[in-house]
Amino acid sequence: MRAFWPAASGLGVLILGIALQPTVPTPLKPHVQALSDAKSLSGKVTMTPIGGAPSKFSFTYSRSGSFKIEGTDGSVYFDGKNLTEYSAASKTYKVIPADKADWKKAVTETRVWAWSAFFNPALMGEVASATKGRSRTVAGEALTELALRFTGAPTRIVTLMTDAKGIAKGFTFREGDKESIVLAQELVMSATEPEASLFAFVPPAGAVLAKIDDPATSAPKYADVQAIFNRSCMPCHNSQTRRSGYDLTSYEAVTGNAMGVRPNSPDDSMILKSVRGVGARLMPQGRPRLSQGDIDTIANWIKAGAKKD
Ligand code: HEC
Repeated sequence: MRAFWPAASGLGVLILGIALQPTVPTPLKPHVQALSDAKSLSGKVTMTPIGGAPSKFSFTYSRSGSFKIEGTDGSVYFDGKNLTEYSAASKTYKVIPADKADWKKAVTETRVWAWSAFFNPALMGEVASATKGRSRTVAGEALTELALRFTGAPTRIVTLMTDAKGIAKGFTFREGDKESIVLAQELVMSATEPEASLFAFVPPAGAVLAKIDDPATSAPKYADVQAIFNRSCMPCHNSQTRRSGYDLTSYEAVTGNAMGVRPNSPDDSMILKSVRGVGARLMPQGRPRLSQGDIDTIANWIKAGAKKD
């Protein structure tokens, strides 16, 4: 998945566990302070695009720098030595040595972004202002809105939902014209670090290790792309319905349509244009947009040559 704030400045020079940034606006301080003080943080969370299907995931962070984020699509583990990314759809995993791994990208990924302050407040981005809004009861808990405005253009606003102590239990955000809500059913902070063994990746039965130095295997697997089509494009684009001539049920059918996929040229491929809603009718028709992660998977697969694996 894409990092939520890829343009956040100063990320390159961050050190884990850096002191509280003096620029944090006052209403955001309790959240940042509590997360900075904790030795471990874990959460059980649901992310729901408005009008779409919720997805559940959980995460555990350790002050040592280790973490894991586990969802139904896949998981990310970091044990200090390696970052391991597991894809449930293709049943493959990548092991990236710590010095080459982009751990900041993993902990600032859209769905866990608000809790990245555990590692460093600056990971949330440069917050220009934080404004308290109304209170509302969400899942039985009274939460107060805290609208964050970020420095830099374009202006981005994210609304945190904070509990009585000022700690973010969730947030709402907008990507394109789609709004999503991320809400922790459980958020636990502790003064002790979790066992290191908790962050070791144990490959599920049948999982295959992908070599990362080979571009063909580091690119998304076709199985990951087909899983997106199966989930989001049926029954409108099967071999019978073929809306606009697009059959998205197999590798042969998908790549057989030269308009749909132009190998190495994602921006010229109708399938990608349609899920971006740029230069083609927005797909999936009548349903919420694909997640940025799904769009990136399709784009990277086409960019790497649209191979069958
Ligand atoms: C609910 C039905 C439905 C779903 C789901 C759906 N489509 Fe479509 N799609 C259509 C229809 C109908 C058209 C024909 C265009 C029109 O009439 O608006 C179309 C057209 C297209 C086109 C041609 C667009 C153009 O502007 O020429 C592409 C490419 C496409 N779909 C890809 C996808 C992809 C990829 C997905 C899944 C991510 C998807 N569609 C999901 C119904 C659907």
